Amino acid sequence: MSHILLIVGGGIAAYKSCELIRLLRKAGHSVRCVLTEGGSHFVTPMTLAALSENQVFTTLWDLKDEAEMGHIQLSREADLVVVAPGTADLMARMANGHADDLATTLLLATDTPVLVAPAMNVRMWLHPATQRNVAQLRADGVEVMAPDEGAMACGEFGPGRLPEPPAILAAIEAKLTPVHRPLAGRHVLVTAGPTHEPIDPVRYIANRSSGRQGFAVAGALAALGARVTLIAGPVTLPTPAGVTRVNVETARDMAQAVAKALPADAAVMVAAVADWRVEAAGQKVKKDGGAAPALTLVENPDILATLAASPNRPALVVGFAAETEHVIDHAVAKRLRKRADWIVANDVSGDVFGGEANRVHIVTAQGVESWERMSKDEVATRLAQRIADALQARS
Ligand code: C5P
Repeated sequence: MSHILLIVGGGIAAYKSCELIRLLRKAGHSVRCVLTEGGSHFVTPMTLAALSENQVFTTLWDLKDEAEMGHIQLSREADLVVVAPGTADLMARMANGHADDLATTLLLATDTPVLVAPAMNVRMWLHPATQRNVAQLRADGVEVMAPDEGAMACGEFGPGRLPEPPAILAAIEAKLTPVHRPLAGRHVLVTAGPTHEPIDPVRYIANRSSGRQGFAVAGALAALGARVTLIAGPVTLPTPAGVTRVNVETARDMAQAVAKALPADAAVMVAAVADWRVEAAGQKVKKDGGAAPALTLVENPDILATLAASPNRPALVVGFAAETEHVIDHAVAKRLRKRADWIVANDVSGDVFGGEANRVHIVTAQGVESWERMSKDEVATRLAQRIADALQARS
């Protein structure tokens, strides 16, 4: 996980910074925001605080913040400082070494790499003064992205639009150093979501898995630089940034997709795979007034166990175990039975399925580690880091 310090300048494109924060959080990064006086006319500290789940800093003269976190430390703690939107005025002040508000002071005091995503009117962007400032910033080692071209909020057309949030996210991730991308060059396979097992062409058996935990794991692994193949059962969640998604419906489809995606350095099987499928009817089963039809169930392949026993076995195989009782005992047994390296056990007797939070226990050959209750994103971030550490230790 990387720490991003996001400076939000005063332009209408500040609303897109809100989307950027969301994407950064989804990709497993922590975000702390600094809002300039101009920026506060477009978005509020409350918006940024809610999205970043962090305190927002607005002024140099807030003594309470200075006592708790010096403004110099604020910028140095970050792995990357991002200015979005970077207005013409903010870039001019940066280029000239001003330090007359919190944003410019941080930018002058930092030894952390800086990325600027500019946004302004086309004439302002093309003005020689702005071009001079951009050239100066680049010469000073600041990465200034090229603005997008197109229709502007002010009604004109041309270069000056803020690059789209996914493009800014990609530029941020490309700029993070290898320390923040310990999984660079690794391929990790993740399964997520439920499976649908057809009864006939119009009906199916499913389960309550939302796919959220698995999607969060895939995003967190990608944020650490892994090439991630996410094999997803039927869910409508958006694909996390940097993840290759393969949609499947049934357990057998999922088993095939997993085999096809190999080789991989690690596999994290989060999917709630149906244990049984139905001997499906070729045509819709009709209600004919007689006895209710009986469903004949057939056991599905165990994808995790098959993978763990295969000659193509990834170096690290992680399974999940959703249990409603004897959570740890069942997970310990499951780890051995399925030959997984780790089992992430969770108690689903409460509101875990479909919910935001999770309480998990990591069962390994060394023992059991219980994590406190935290968000699914936080579980994902921590698990991804643990996977990175384990792969690093093995190689
Ligand atoms: O046996 P149980 O369903 O509790 O095991 C859960 C773990 O096994 C999860 O990691 C799940 O993704 C995986 N699994 C699988 N294929 C199945 C059943 C479970 O990969 N058919």
